[in-house]
Parts: sequence; C-alpha cells; structure tokens
Amino acid sequence: MSTAPFTVAIDGPAAAGKGTVSRALAQRFGLAHLDTGLLYRAVGAQTLDGADPIKAARALVPDALERDDLRTAQVAQAASKVAVMPEVRAALLDFQRAFARRAGGAVLDGRDICTVICPQAEAKLFVTASDTVRAARRHAELLARGDDTTLETVLRDVRARDARDAERAAAPMRPADDAHVLDTSDMSITDAVAAAIDIVAQARAARGLPVER
Ligand code: C5P
Repeated sequence: MSTAPFTVAIDGPAAAGKGTVSRALAQRFGLAHLDTGLLYRAVGAQTLDGADPIKAARALVPDALERDDLRTAQVAQAASKVAVMPEVRAALLDFQRAFARRAGGAVLDGRDICTVICPQAEAKLFVTASDTVRAARRHAELLARGDDTTLETVLRDVRARDARDAERAAAPMRPADDAHVLDTSDMSITDAVAAAIDIVAQARAARGLPVER
C-alpha cells in the first residue's frame, strides 16, 4: 500500500450511483472509504430524536454512524435540513479533511467534497443521473428494505432534497470546474464503475502510483 496521500472526491445528487462507484473504487485501489452523507444523516436522526443539530454535530462520535435507521427517507430529509446550517457543516469539516488525507489514500463521497472539503483531491468526479432515473432506483432500494412507499413520493422527496442541496448558501451541491462528470442515466452500474476506474487509474498513473492493488 502506498502512503502518499491520494484522494478521490466524488459529489453528486441522491441515488445517482455515488455510493456504488465509491465502494468499487475503494476496493479496486485499496483506499479507505467515507460516505459523508452518513455524518449528516446521523445528525439528522438525532435531531428527529429531539437533539439540537449544532450540538449533535459537534459531539458526533463514530458509533453514531452505526445506527440502523440512517437509510430511511425520513432521516434523508432531516439530513438535508441540518446540512443547510453552516455551524453543522463546520463541525464536520476537520474529520472529513483528515480522512481525505489519511495515509494510503481515501475515497469520499458527498455533495461538497470536490468544492469545499478537498479541492486539492487528485481525482474528482461528479456522478449524476436524471431525477426520474434516480427516483426509480431509490424507490426500488426502499421497497427492498421493506419501506412501503410510492414512486411519486420518492420523486417528490428527491426533487425537494436536490433543491435544498443545490440552492443552500453554505457549500451548495455543484460540479467542481475540474470534476469529471459521469451521467449514469443510461449506463449500467458495471459501465459506470468501469468509467470511474479509468479516470482514477489515469490520475494514479500520472503521479507514478500503482494502478493495481
Ligand atoms: O448522500 P446522502 O443522500 O446520504 O446525504 C444525505 C444528505 O446529507 C444530503 O441530501 C445532503 O443534504 C447532505 N450532505 C451534504 N454534504 C455532503 C454529504 C451529504 O450536505 N458532503
């Protein structure tokens, strides 16, 4: 394992395939992975329990990311509401930056990784897809998890979250100028992963880093 810092930063809207692509890249190149959405979800979940979001973000411990209700639609909305608060974002910044530059390299996925958390990342991707494709994917995921919801509800939630994430003043979701945009609307997950692997392999090769584990 190389000890040079090597960060893959991945942004994009909900259910675009970021998580799958990130996990595949981490596995392929032997990098640590942080799903930064979980930090906001953990704070959002505690807020639904009555906690103050800023205090919850400042006191967040790794165990809080292990709660088994963090993937629900209700927690997703709560996460995007606490994520508009600059104090919440500031409280989560150092942990993400340290993770990004850890020895051995890391993949982080979220909304502001390329633009705010790690603008110096060696590889940057913006993984996206149309809102209807993303809603259909998220709907299938929620049904598989036993969450009884309709496609219309999921589409409405995805659009509400997109608007909140893209229009907020603090670290809005947007593709970094130098990010590779990967639109997965008409791509299989295998093709999306292969395209992402190519981009990262080129960034590693350009720095003389191994492209095989
Ligand atoms: O990625 P995920 O859907 O789990 O993220 C939940 C919410 O957390 C997003 O809708 C967004 O509001 C917020 N988030 C963020 N910045 C990140 C990651 C997530 O604002 N880096």
